Amino acid sequence: MRNLAVIGTGYVGLVTGVCLSEVGHHVVCIDVDEEKVKKMKSGIPPIFEPGLEELMIKNIKNGQLHFTTDYTEGLKNAEVIYITVGTPQNIDGSADLKYIKQVAKDIGLHVTHDVIVATKSTVPVGTNELVHKIIQENLKENVQIDIVSNPEFLREGFAIYDTFNNDRTVIGTSQDHAAKIMTEINQPFNVPIFITDIRSAEMIKYASNAFLATKISFINEIALICEKIGANVDDVAYGMGQDSRIGPKFLDAGIGYGGSCFPKDSIALVKMAENVNHSFKILNSVIEINKKQQMILVEKAKERFGSLKGKKCAMLGLSFKPNTDDVRESACIYISKRLIDEGAEVSAYDPIAIENAKKILDSKVKYGANMEETLQDTDFVFILTDWKEFIDFPLDKFSDLMKFPIIFDGRNCYNLEDVKQYPIEYHSIGRASIINK
Ligand code: UDX
Repeated sequence: MRNLAVIGTGYVGLVTGVCLSEVGHHVVCIDVDEEKVKKMKSGIPPIFEPGLEELMIKNIKNGQLHFTTDYTEGLKNAEVIYITVGTPQNIDGSADLKYIKQVAKDIGLHVTHDVIVATKSTVPVGTNELVHKIIQENLKENVQIDIVSNPEFLREGFAIYDTFNNDRTVIGTSQDHAAKIMTEINQPFNVPIFITDIRSAEMIKYASNAFLATKISFINEIALICEKIGANVDDVAYGMGQDSRIGPKFLDAGIGYGGSCFPKDSIALVKMAENVNHSFKILNSVIEINKKQQMILVEKAKERFGSLKGKKCAMLGLSFKPNTDDVRESACIYISKRLIDEGAEVSAYDPIAIENAKKILDSKVKYGANMEETLQDTDFVFILTDWKEFIDFPLDKFSDLMKFPIIFDGRNCYNLEDVKQYPIEYHSIGRASIINK
């Protein structure tokens, strides 16, 4: 088992550190945020991720997992240093590397022995070479630095599960020694390992996310056509997914993709392509389709009511997907803004993301304590996230609580045959509307 350091305890860093300690490595997580480090030392994770807290507490107790703000202490015994800081967006959509550059400099200034530096952050192709250069420029001792690109493929809400059940681990390096150590470190996860060069590893991450985003925009376009020609997109997706060359996953039509990865990484890849004079036409369309798709429920409501002025809307689901409190790039941001601009009154509910939503949504948005309170006396409801709580909500309750239940379901949560049993007006994505008065 190895001594490892993880720099940056955001979502990727913390999950990586905790899971590496769980399989027996000795891990020190380093972060500049003293308050956060203090909390993590006592087993409080700064993010919501199923299973994370339990593993964190267990491995802190058994001495496998440590947290510090001190680079000297954190890097002292590290055989591998993972870089897991964020790469936010520049105004033009390209990746902002300021945190990566700072960390590379700090590694250079503090490392005093041979070490492998593995980048997990999503970084544009060529960044690992830059990391190497910055570390070398700042080194105080004559030590060997091996560079590895080791992108993560974790889904929020399933990050622990994914770490132990991923389809592949990608290790990009030109050094046999680094490939051997990285393979050894990852062996306990029992995930197939693919070793390649650094640039290809960096590209695999972007290409994978862009391809998944493409699948989503593709099925959303199919959904729009299905509505017009009288087909059912759920059945179409199922039939397509039976073909093993296509596969059944990521064919759920809805109000598009959000989150911290797909929107940011797709634009960053377009920018990366532009830098080498290539116009990435498919990906540009994918991004454009997604923007439109996020507004699809507002368009449907406007078509239904004419004007939304003075209408009361219940917005259910604020996180960008279920099982997370993450509201980054969630459709609710754009939808609530548009509803308010159109003169509607918005009440919102989410099982766990309300506090995060409050920080970014317009102050005019009101929040309900539960589904019932949020739906009370509203004119229509937008379902934006397929939380189990929404899927399990008894359909007759909509009629009890609302003036007359008009549901715009952006995640196809309900079976059309079930909806037909109730006095409900129901509009979903890529399926026939049901008007049952
Ligand atoms: C994604 C990738 O899956 C992961 O491999 C990568 O490391 C990080 O980005 P994540 O952002 O956690 O993970 O969410 P994911 O579960 O992939 O969903 C992304 C978005 O796409 C969500 O808004 C989701 O609602 C939407 N989506 C997903 C669809 O609209 N339809 C689908 O069929 C699947």
